[in-house]
Amino acid sequence: MELTLSEKQMLQGEFGPATRKAMEILVALGTIYQAEKMIPVSSVQVSGVSYDNLGEAGLDFLSEMAAGGGKAQVLTTLNPAGMDIEDPTSLGISPEFAGQQQRVIDAFGRMGIITTCTCTPYLTGNLPHYGEHIAWAESSAVCYANSVLGARTNREGGPSALAAALTGRTPAYGLHLAENRAPSLTIQVKAQLTENDEFGALGLLAGRQIEMRKQNRVVYIQGIQQASLENLKSFCASLATYGGAGLFHMQGITPEANLFAPTADAVEFSQADIQSAARSLNDESAAEIDFVSLGCPHLSILEIARVAELLRGQKVKKTFWITTARPTRQMAERMGYTAIIEEAGAVIAADTCCVVAPIQGRFHTLATDSAKACYYAYGKNKMKTRLMSFDEVVYEALK
Ligand code: F3S
Repeated sequence: MELTLSEKQMLQGEFGPATRKAMEILVALGTIYQAEKMIPVSSVQVSGVSYDNLGEAGLDFLSEMAAGGGKAQVLTTLNPAGMDIEDPTSLGISPEFAGQQQRVIDAFGRMGIITTCTCTPYLTGNLPHYGEHIAWAESSAVCYANSVLGARTNREGGPSALAAALTGRTPAYGLHLAENRAPSLTIQVKAQLTENDEFGALGLLAGRQIEMRKQNRVVYIQGIQQASLENLKSFCASLATYGGAGLFHMQGITPEANLFAPTADAVEFSQADIQSAARSLNDESAAEIDFVSLGCPHLSILEIARVAELLRGQKVKKTFWITTARPTRQMAERMGYTAIIEEAGAVIAADTCCVVAPIQGRFHTLATDSAKACYYAYGKNKMKTRLMSFDEVVYEALK
């Protein structure tokens, strides 16, 4: 792979051991994917932040990179951690876990990474524009950045995203190249979708089709008349989870859709298909719901306003976590939404979520509007799941 003079200097260790290690990671990645060169990135989002996923080995790696003089060269933010960093005990997290999680955050902080922990960086100031090359790691955010914003990123792993942050570079392959952004499958939607859980069910159906074909994983979607930011973030999370997709085009909605035509390979989904996909995430054998959560991906301020409206003057009867980014929570505090939610007995937590927090064994059945949360609640945390609409999730907490 062709490297510029400064990239060669990074590789030779002239900018310190952490930068050398970072460039070694990127060169290895670029070699595997036959990239011809590196390209500059302007924004990074790093995953592998929860100590629950990182463990001691991950923490050691981060501490080593910080001690080796690693410094973020571009705007870099973090994926959710395993706790609310400013209020760990609000979620029943053990002091031992909280201590190790804090060391992780401190290591990132020493590298000049902004310790805002969210899977919706695009809602909190890390917002790339059309055509911008970036290196993001969280799968739902990658899908959103490529598809809805028209930025260009591969789905990075934690180490490769950190390496991009410390060098300001990423290998030029995959979704950075225009020729890899064309769709290979068309999904025709013959249904009216309005709720997040319905868009999540569509993501599940489309994802299964992608998995069956093993092509380039880019789909072209027709038939969606309208989709809110919240619908799209839900769809992105589901499509990335069930189909490993990093990019889709939605006719009339996403910015690159008009560059492409529908493909010959096409499948159609009806309202009944959507309903049946949603039902497949409802475990009918589930015992009573004992955990309710909204915020996968992290809630927008509009969604928090809706929760507050529904909870005003009421008391929840189940454990109810509402998860969001710290800056969004600060807006919610200013607007009085947090006070309403907390008076109702629900928890509004920043920096974390119901998947990356260490909760295995604490709950049996999760109610959520997120198809992605269902996947991980079952797979990672061994819970049964019930998928319902956003408002129904709130009503469930009040039952
Ligand atoms: Fe975000 Fe956690 Fe869901 S990182 S997309 S809220 S699994």
